Amino acid sequence: MTAASACGKIILLGEHAVVYGRPALAVPLPQVRATAEVETLEQGEAGAVRIEAPDVGLSTWLHTLKPDHPLAKIVHMVRQALKIEDHPALELRVRSSIPVASGLGSGTAVSVAIVRALSKHWGVPLNTEQQSALAYEVEKLHHGTPSGIDNTVVAYEQPVHFIRGEAPKPFSIGTSTTLVVGDTGQRSNTSVAVGNVRKAWQADTARYEALFDRIGEVVDRGRAAIKAGDLAALGSLMDQNQALLQEMGVSSSELEMLIKAARSSGALGAKLSGAGMGGNMIALVDAAEAGSIEKALQAAGAKWTLTAEVGP
Ligand code: PMV
Repeated sequence: MTAASACGKIILLGEHAVVYGRPALAVPLPQVRATAEVETLEQGEAGAVRIEAPDVGLSTWLHTLKPDHPLAKIVHMVRQALKIEDHPALELRVRSSIPVASGLGSGTAVSVAIVRALSKHWGVPLNTEQQSALAYEVEKLHHGTPSGIDNTVVAYEQPVHFIRGEAPKPFSIGTSTTLVVGDTGQRSNTSVAVGNVRKAWQADTARYEALFDRIGEVVDRGRAAIKAGDLAALGSLMDQNQALLQEMGVSSSELEMLIKAARSSGALGAKLSGAGMGGNMIALVDAAEAGSIEKALQAAGAKWTLTAEVGP
């Protein structure tokens, strides 16, 4: 049996505007992971792949899935990339502890875990860039214009400063930095959120370009604050980013409730993370206060919370 895994991710600053060429910062979330296991089957036709993905209620053969099903697409693409034309029947088991459709990169992590497990199983190594590029092809199924930030941070498993179309710049966070993550329990549909922003941008391009520019500036200042180890400044920039995301129409009353609860219980700053309209929010906190902020989020309706140390 061959196994591999991939981490979840958090967008610290810059989601949505990153689709329009502005910079964004993302960090890995290794505390939650997707795992893929590959095992050769004694029986079954050559080339057959049994897929077991209990978290999404899937137990079937690859050939019964449409070619644009995310799991089918990644398996087909890995076979193509590795030039595997024929192989003994195998079973692919996929599990994930990353909440689904909630802005934490669960789909991307599943893709990267499968890429890693299959390439290991067939003994053909793929570098980080290749893993990221394959996962990017699956991102395109979710919405037509993915920036590529999700597949990049998940495949690199390092904080990245990302600009669409440019080589990602991995960086390290030198100061102890604690985030509390809170899930609204509402699904965040990336294609709907990105589609809504696109329609709004088409209807009022000047207003949206100005919002994206302001987010870009917040990201640049955020990168400088991280370099300087200035967490108070970073928290305030997260709040500014949230105000701009709210203006863009991608927040929700549930997200706002959790963000307010985090701020009023002492967070340095808080914002939604990912596509929004549901999904998760993040709060930058003093490590000593993480527990009480998690409790405050739960009291405000969070369905799931997590404290993550993203520093050194
Ligand atoms: O799919 P999510 O929730 O991780 O959001 C991805 C981030 C967006 O900026 C909204 C889309 C993108 O392609 O960058």
